[in-house]
Amino acid sequence: MSANLHDHTEEILITENQLQSRVREMAKKISRDYRERELMLVGVLKGSLIFVADLLRNLDIDVSAEFICVSSYEGDRPSGAVKLVMDLQKDPAGKHVLLVEDIVDSGATLAFLQELLSARRPASLRTCVLLDKTAARKVPVTIDYRGFTIPDKFIVGYGLDYRERYRGLPYIGVLRKEHYSK
Ligand code: IMP
Ligand code: MG
Repeated sequence: MSANLHDHTEEILITENQLQSRVREMAKKISRDYRERELMLVGVLKGSLIFVADLLRNLDIDVSAEFICVSSYEGDRPSGAVKLVMDLQKDPAGKHVLLVEDIVDSGATLAFLQELLSARRPASLRTCVLLDKTAARKVPVTIDYRGFTIPDKFIVGYGLDYRERYRGLPYIGVLRKEHYSK
């Protein structure tokens, strides 16, 4: 991580410690809920990559990890249409699926994914999101596990990017306006 990237954020919204302890709590709850069931975790690339890695390390149950890749954001705005960029390699039919997403903004991405996956007849489907921008919701979605509710600001770090940058920041920060569109 280049040191000056830290100066690109105007505020740290969630610290590294807060992230780690919340993810541990979420993993504990998920481990309890899925103790008797075989869990198929479906991470949504690319934003959830670090969240998925930390969740996995804290789960103490049998779990497989699969990934799906969609895109909707262009820069700091949702483009409206959600595109499936890379599909699952395993059929989720009959599996207990937990969809793991970094952030819910308008809800369009999650709604798209929930519909796509439920049409494939999993035994159960739940959704786990790290960050929820509740005030920005346009499409109602069900969230079963939620890390943090955050204000409607554009944030980066802990896997989240602005034009593919800042994913490696260990905290969630608010990007300074002057670093948009560069
Ligand atoms: P939605 O479809 O509007 O809910 O947007 C969800 C997707 O947009 C997320 O999976 C993120 O990849 C991206 N996104 C939404 N808000 C932010 C943000 O503040 N920073 C970085 N990416 C974001
Ligand atoms: Mg995402």
